[in-house]
Amino acid sequence: MNSKIISIGSYIPSNTVTNKDLEKTVDTTDEWIVSRTGIKQRPIADSSQATSDLAFEAATIAIERAKIDKNDIDLIIVGTCTPDVATPNVGTLIQKRLGLSNFPAFSIEAACSGFIYALNIADKFIKTGESKCALVVGAETLSRITNWDDRNTCVLFADGAGAAILKPTDDKGIIFSELGANGEYADLLHVPYGTSRKPEKSSKDDYFLRMSGNEVFKVAVKTLEEIAIDALKKSNIESKDVDWFIPHQANVRIIQAVAKRLELPEEKVILSMDIHGNTSAASIPLAFDRAVQDGRIKKGDTILMQSFGAGFTWGSVLLEL
Ligand code: ACO
Repeated sequence: MNSKIISIGSYIPSNTVTNKDLEKTVDTTDEWIVSRTGIKQRPIADSSQATSDLAFEAATIAIERAKIDKNDIDLIIVGTCTPDVATPNVGTLIQKRLGLSNFPAFSIEAACSGFIYALNIADKFIKTGESKCALVVGAETLSRITNWDDRNTCVLFADGAGAAILKPTDDKGIIFSELGANGEYADLLHVPYGTSRKPEKSSKDDYFLRMSGNEVFKVAVKTLEEIAIDALKKSNIESKDVDWFIPHQANVRIIQAVAKRLELPEEKVILSMDIHGNTSAASIPLAFDRAVQDGRIKKGDTILMQSFGAGFTWGSVLLEL
């Protein structure tokens, strides 16, 4: 039994911070941000919104579009590195908001790979028959762990959520999925202190994301090229048979390098960092939904998704929609 994505939904906060807005607060320019990253603007949650609020909105849309009875859902997995609180987890917070209970609901921490990790786990629940209808979400409020005085990071990150409903299928559905990680690189992209590592005299800055951008960039390109080629090889699919490439939306230059290596024409590459920024675990489902809504991605299409994020963590999913 395979699993299949039967619907996608997404949500971004209405408040948008443009590159021009950031020119007023840090030493940067719209030209630098667009040419180095592809980002033009970023949705930012208002102070009343936490990650589960964004996740709930995206999940509600995905459920409506799936035309299922929400009571059919028997599994919720959320990828996030910005949970509302240490506990309860965002999965159970959404479960409650949806008026559901008595089935597994949990979050996993894999930074920008959160949605791909969650999808991989849900696929296994469905393959083993343990789930018949899974809600998979990637949701973040990265603005809460971003230092808005640091031009190296504040131009990149954003808030949003994307959700998918997965059901068993006799069709192909998810053809291939593989995850990876290497903790050796932990210090290149990290938040120094958090729930348990919290010395009394640490400064406020210690609670913000720190990134050695250039070093992350190099490992990201190399890893993403390798795992994309690997995913195609292990699935016996040639890159010309991939209809759409939906990578994590961190940097347009990383994506262009990987697409070139795969010999994928740019029309097949889904980009959404221009309006969404880097929303970590939410970035792939946000880009996916954008391309479904504007009519590019259709039922039956073959899609390659891949992620890379803090940890480092990475993963790929190849599917037929
Ligand atoms: N505006 C203007 N100048 C800037 C800015 C800015 N916002 N930020 C940095 N600069 C400057 C630097 O200070 C440096 O100046 P110098 O040459 O005088 O020292 C110069 O621009 C070049 O800096 P680099 O860091 O080398 O710039 P780079 O081209 O590498 O772009 C970026 C930086 C966009 C961060 C890139 O390295 C990148 O995208 N890295 C990977 C990000 C990623 O994939 N993250 C993983 C997922 S995210 C997650 O898991 C949450």
